[in-house]
Amino acid sequence: MFKKLAISAVAALTLSTGGAMAAGGAGYVKDVDFSFEGPFGKFDEAQLQRGLQVFTEGCASCHGLQYVPFRTLGDEGGPHFSEAEVIAYAEQNFEVYDEALDDFRPAKPTDHFPVSGFEGAPDLSLIAKNRAGFHGPYGTGINQLVKGMGGPEYIYSVLTGYTGETKEEAGTLFYENKAFPGGWIAMPPPLSDEQVEYAGGHANDLSHLSKDVSAFLMWTAEPKMMDRKHAGLTGVIFLTVLSVLLYLTNKRIWAPIKGKKIG
Ligand code: HEC
Repeated sequence: MFKKLAISAVAALTLSTGGAMAAGGAGYVKDVDFSFEGPFGKFDEAQLQRGLQVFTEGCASCHGLQYVPFRTLGDEGGPHFSEAEVIAYAEQNFEVYDEALDDFRPAKPTDHFPVSGFEGAPDLSLIAKNRAGFHGPYGTGINQLVKGMGGPEYIYSVLTGYTGETKEEAGTLFYENKAFPGGWIAMPPPLSDEQVEYAGGHANDLSHLSKDVSAFLMWTAEPKMMDRKHAGLTGVIFLTVLSVLLYLTNKRIWAPIKGKKIG
């Protein structure tokens, strides 16, 4: 009986290390500090606006954001553009197919961003929650508890992880990338230093551009993150106050009995 238990424990251990080894095949992900981390973290409005610009100029030609309606760009807690800015952004940058017109027309705030237009390029709406940057140790997930899932860190690391090496396989060109699992990605390096010019003159080297677009993609994946954190915090405060009141009530109810001397 004991022997059986011991054997299954060993089997479970081997299995979990197996998992960790598989995860070990994943690439190197850098831990980046984002404004939205931690229980009081918030999206940085200006950073989301810059990230949208990077996405529009550097990624939208290949990647879609099909679950994101343009109107949400005006939401508080998001990029928070004015209504006029949202209208202008949608119609100046995107065209959508209108069934009623049987033709393409400029996008309106009620439309969604288009689907991916490049073969093999995944939709990026939810990618920040769909990829984990941190694993282990040994399949325990403790690193994720400490550093977070690491979705935006993973995106940042892919964008900054190109080594410059390429190889051709079955007619497709692959680029060596330190963060991408397997080490070779079909996406050509999409960003480089100063590729996007920010209106406010904010730093636009590769690292800043990558960080801004990663933050923006975290917002598209979880636009209500700030509401969720706020609700959690309110819950904790409420439960703390309730605990104190219950403790005092309990003390009071038992006071006559506990205070009694026996004998
Ligand atoms: C020329 C087209 C093209 C452009 C431009 C482009 N990508 Fe990609 N991207 C791809 C393709 C193709 C893949 C799939 C790569 C693969 O599976 O090997 C991909 C994959 C990805 C992945 C997913 C990696 C994974 O884990 O599956 C992310 C994240 C990503 N791109 C982000 C971006 C961002 C952010 C930008 C803009 C800064 C961008 N891409 C610009 C073509 C592009």
